[in-house]
Amino acid sequence: MSSYILKLRELINNPERLDNSLEWVFLDNAEPPNILIYGERLGLEALKTPNFKAVDLFKYWRVLAQAPEGHLEAMEIYFDRAPTILHGEQHFAARRFFSPTYRRIEKDFHNWIDSFTEDFFNAHNQIDKINPLCLARDYVQKVTSRIIAQDLNVEDHELPYMPGEVLQMITTLKALEEYNQRLNVLVDFIQRKLKISGRNPDEAWAIVSTTVMGTEPLLAALVFALMLPTNDLVTWDSERLMSESKPISVLGREAVCDFEISNMLFKKGQKVQVTTDLIRNPSVNLKSPQQTIPFGIGVHICPGKKISLIVADAFLIKWANTKEMHSKLNRVEFFRDFVLRAK
Ligand code: HEM
Repeated sequence: MSSYILKLRELINNPERLDNSLEWVFLDNAEPPNILIYGERLGLEALKTPNFKAVDLFKYWRVLAQAPEGHLEAMEIYFDRAPTILHGEQHFAARRFFSPTYRRIEKDFHNWIDSFTEDFFNAHNQIDKINPLCLARDYVQKVTSRIIAQDLNVEDHELPYMPGEVLQMITTLKALEEYNQRLNVLVDFIQRKLKISGRNPDEAWAIVSTTVMGTEPLLAALVFALMLPTNDLVTWDSERLMSESKPISVLGREAVCDFEISNMLFKKGQKVQVTTDLIRNPSVNLKSPQQTIPFGIGVHICPGKKISLIVADAFLIKWANTKEMHSKLNRVEFFRDFVLRAK
């Protein structure tokens, strides 16, 4: 594994080691070096400038796992169409294409999310010992299946398995192949249903993105919610949950040209990681509260934010009302990868 990933992982798991009087740190001695940006002013500027594009996560995994080009076809098509790693006009076009699907899902939610969540907890109420990770994973899998089933007007149980988790700093070819296979089966299913109902089969990529992009940070936030002390739960809502759990740890960017921000020079091709947990800039205001940007900022800001907040609020409220389950939970330990994880 590259040394910069090791150092990145070490620093985001131990942010107290970062020097609060600075805003960034080199992650390696490469030319140009990889950088971690954690200062508020520089971090916000880096996320807003069009001179950075999002790091190509798919290429990162492909190189890491030594997957031949074309080998992970469903993932390749997904990342060609989703806004996640696209830049400029292609990126805006992808957002415009995905947006109506997200808006339709948001509108439909209020019809079912509360009763769905209540039924979910009732169904798990008899279990003696509960692993919070399994509970939250089961919920996220079921809620995303329901989102897709509602949109396609089919029964939840008709859907294939959701693709699962992929946002790893370290992965293997086998894990990517399995993910790719599940994604392929799901997209194929969605496309067939769209064709039958006379809809555009390409929309499958927008529909499937509700499970590709969103489920892992949502899972992390819900495990965090399960670990909150019972008596505090009434003081938490989804916004606070996201800003304190910071489910996504870093946002990767790559310079598209040589440029300068805040007196700092970036070279074309240089990669930076910006933490979503931006440490205040001491030279600006020592007492300002720490800013977190759990859903990002700038042109890549999360389009699934509203969906996530609706789901997390329903989960928090129903969980707070299911007190008899609280003492049955095992404890977990959190650590940071690209996404907050629990073990
Ligand atoms: C707790 C839940 C979630 C968190 C914390 C979260 C966070 C984020 C963040 C920080 C970004 C910006 C990435 C960047 O700047 O490079 C992002 C992008 C994105 N998110 Fe989310 N997300 C969540 C859930 C979702 C859900 C449920 C969906 C889909 C329904 C979704 C779809 C997307 C997409 C498509 C992008 C790429 C946007 C672009 O590049 O323009 N996310 N998310």
